[in-house]
Amino acid sequence: MDTFKLNTGNEIPVIGFGTWEIKSDELAKQMVLVALEAGYRLIDTARIYGNERGVGEAIRESGIPREEIFVTTKLWNDDQGYDHTLRACQESLQRLGLDYLDLYLIHWPATGKRHESWRAFEKLYADGTIKAAGVSNYTVEHLQELQSQSDLKPAVDQVEFHPFIYEQQKAVLDYCQSQDILLEAYSPINRLSSVSSQPVHVIAERLGKTPQQVVLRWCVQHHTVPLPRSTSPDHTRSNFQIFDFELTEEDMRTLNSLSDGERVTWDPAGMG
Ligand SMILES: NC(=O)c1ccc[n+]([C@@H]2O[C@H](COP(=O)([O-])OP(=O)(O)OC[C@H]3O[C@@H](n4cnc5c(N)ncnc54)[C@H](OP(=O)(O)O)[C@@H]3O)[C@@H](O)[C@H]2O)c1
Repeated sequence: MDTFKLNTGNEIPVIGFGTWEIKSDELAKQMVLVALEAGYRLIDTARIYGNERGVGEAIRESGIPREEIFVTTKLWNDDQGYDHTLRACQESLQRLGLDYLDLYLIHWPATGKRHESWRAFEKLYADGTIKAAGVSNYTVEHLQELQSQSDLKPAVDQVEFHPFIYEQQKAVLDYCQSQDILLEAYSPINRLSSVSSQPVHVIAERLGKTPQQVVLRWCVQHHTVPLPRSTSPDHTRSNFQIFDFELTEEDMRTLNSLSDGERVTWDPAGMG
């Protein structure tokens, strides 16, 4: 499995399996087992997805050693604040049936309590409950605010990232890369379900790959970690087949130029 290095020194797989909208524990368990069988070693969940139990069951049933799987979950907005964060982390661990997380993220910078929550992340990181502390949906301004208040730099910022939003997200990508914060790309292929983009199809046909594989490869070549989600075993397996081809610089430029700025989720600018 190809990996990137986090600023903690730990390795993170270059692609992960996302579980948003996989609402039942049973389906999450089924799909995470498919993903692990297909070769994924990073699973991305969140308290608010309501499937941590199913994710944990799949990890145990897979028979793969715990240390070979990189597990991420997220702190939901209602749980922010110092004490609440410590409790929410324990509750997530209980639901997952794990005794540590590879990565814990503040899901949104949505409340005035994010500084208190980050203080709890510092404690969780210091005592080894979480191997890396990170954030999600943080803009450059949110990251700068956090860095002015804490010596613990986030290892990761997980944001919406795909060709259709490249221009809008370039500032946060550049900032993270300048600060050794890894960008994770959420909703990497969601827009492909609604936009039929000719340039993506032309590149995919030339390479004999699917449009989804091309966009996932684009994310990895930007040194970001895409987190595709699927409830189809075939899609899950095919989305992982991105290691046998490379996009040219021209392909990268073509895909970079597709931005229309439309988001799958919400714009965090101005939040908090
Ligand atoms: N931190 C945050 O705030 C945040 C927000 C959003 C998402 N995320 C994370 O990022 C993950 C991915 O984002 P996302 O859930 O928006 O999904 P996505 O992976 O970008 O898109 C999922 C959609 O693409 C379809 N799809 C997947 N593979 C396909 C293929 N090979 N061919 C055709 N269609 C395909 C899926 O349908 P099928 O099921 O039919 O394959 C589904 O409709 C989430 O699951 C979550 O873990 C985080």
